[in-house]
This record gives sequence, structure tokens and C-alpha cells, in this order.
Amino acid sequence: MSQTTSAQSAAPARFSDVKGWFWPADQLLFDWFLARQERQGLRGDLLELGAYLGKSAIFLGSYLREDETFTVCDLFDSPAPDDPNSEEMDRSYATLTRRAFEANYLAFHDELPVVVQAPTSVITSRVDSGSCRFIHVDASHLYEHVHGDIAAARDLVAPDGIVAFDDFRAEHCPGVAAAVWGAVATTGLRPIAITATKFYGTWSDPEPARSELLSWLPTRPDMWHGVEEVAGAPLIRISGKKAVAPAAPRSRHEGLTPVPTPAPTAPKPRPALARRLAKGLLPRR
Ligand SMILES: C[S@@+](CC[C@H](N)C(=O)[O-])C[C@H]1O[C@@H](n2cnc3c(N)ncnc32)[C@H](O)[C@@H]1O
Repeated sequence: MSQTTSAQSAAPARFSDVKGWFWPADQLLFDWFLARQERQGLRGDLLELGAYLGKSAIFLGSYLREDETFTVCDLFDSPAPDDPNSEEMDRSYATLTRRAFEANYLAFHDELPVVVQAPTSVITSRVDSGSCRFIHVDASHLYEHVHGDIAAARDLVAPDGIVAFDDFRAEHCPGVAAAVWGAVATTGLRPIAITATKFYGTWSDPEPARSELLSWLPTRPDMWHGVEEVAGAPLIRISGKKAVAPAAPRSRHEGLTPVPTPAPTAPKPRPALARRLAKGLLPRR
């Protein structure tokens, strides 16, 4: 994530029409971890913190099985809980609405996930402790928020569950790197693998997943990998610039003439932005 995207103009006919930041190498890794859980018979819920227009949520939703719950938590068009988060929202997600997320999601799935439209700080009151087999943390990229999201993920993850953190090493969001590697140093978060954009880890034993992943990677000539000792354990580095994405979820609008979404009305400024604008306009005392 590094810039504002313009609003999507039509119902998505293909997965590639959904705007977001979820690249082929990470699609392959999500698919690998989730298919492995299926093979292992590991059951549990799915959770995403930070959904935007649904790109990664739509993908994750394809791995949901009967009697499991998929929860997504996002502010969408609600006010952010503090000024730095509000500025982040204005800068990067100014035109985002829950309606746009839901329309995209329903183009690929019959039912919506459980949507928690709130700051991620509420998530431990909405999801059961120890219930989630896979958690994608991709909400605010500010240190204080990511730190809280990591604590929540640690509470909510099931034994042998996997946690993926977005943008853990990007130049524009040093707070994510600080929070994620801080958790490795202080909370027992165990790294398994990294791509250019995501960190995959667990609070359980990382070794079985790590060794199976190392057996699978040589079968993927489209991805380079290497292993480096980090914090006393082997970390798999994956470079997926040429990665070929796995089969994408299918849209119910595929092959149909694109249905334009109604012309957007000018978005209402977020409350905090409105507050700042008003402050700037009012005479100073
Ligand atoms: C990088 S985007 C998510 C991208 C999405 N996972 C994808 O793959 O396309 C980050 C999302 O986090 C949400 N967000 C930012 N701060 C948040 C907060 N404090 N609580 C909940 N959601 C937040 C934003 O509304 C935005 O939709």
C-alpha cells in the first residue's frame, strides 16, 4: 500500500478487476498455507484485519469451510480512532466505502463474511480467543496500531495457526517493521517465510511448515528462494517478481457486459478531516 487508488467503476468481472495490494507471490503463499491446513484437517476460523475493496478477503473467502467463520474488520467509511490514523485514511483510502467492499465480495461469493466495521482495537471482543487458523493483518500501518493488532492476533490465533503481516519491510511504513520484528524478539512470534510484501509466521512450532514449504518451493521455477539464519532460526526468503498467480476466484459477472456502478457522489469528508478543515477556517483566538 503506498498511494490512494481511484474508486472502482464497475462490478468486477474478474479477480484482477478488484483493486488492492495482493500480489501473485502472496496469493501463492496464502494458497499453499491454506491448502496445507485443508490437507492436515486443521479446522478453525479465518480473520482479516484491513480489507479495503476486498482483494485479499475475496481470495481468503474461497478457503472457508462449513461451520467456520470468516471475519473481516475495517473502518471503511467510519471515522478513525486518532489523528495519525485519520490522516492515513485520508491519504490512502479516501473514497473507500463498506458498500463497495460488499459489492465486490458478493461478486465472488454467495454470502458476506462477518463484517466488523470498527477500529481493529475491538476485534478481541468480536472473535473468540484461540479460534483462528489463519489471520491476515493488513489494517493501519502505524506502529501503535500494528502493535495492538499483533497482540490481538496472538490472542485469537489457534494452535498451529498462521499469521501473515503485510508491508512488514516497506520504506513508507517503518512502524510495521518495528512492530513485527519487535514481536519476534519479545513475544515468541516465529518467522517461517517472507516475500517482498508479507511476513508469514506462527506462535506454534514453525518447523513442520518450514520444511514442507522448502520441499514445495523447488517445484516453483517462477519463484526464487533462499534460507538465511535470522534471530536463531532459518527464515525462508522468497522473491516472486515473476510468480504466476494460482487460479483466481471466479466472478459471477464474468463474460457479462460490465455494469457501471452509479456515479459516485462527492465523498463526505471523514469527521476528523472535517474537524481539521474547520479548525483551519475558523478565526484563531
Ligand atoms: C492496505 S489496506 C488493505 C488491503 C487489502 N487487504 C488488500 O489486500 O487489498 C488497509 C485497510 O485498513 C483499513 N484500516 C486502517 N486503519 C484501520 C483501523 N484502525 N482499524 C480498522 N481498519 C483500518 C483501511 O480502511 C484499509 O481498508
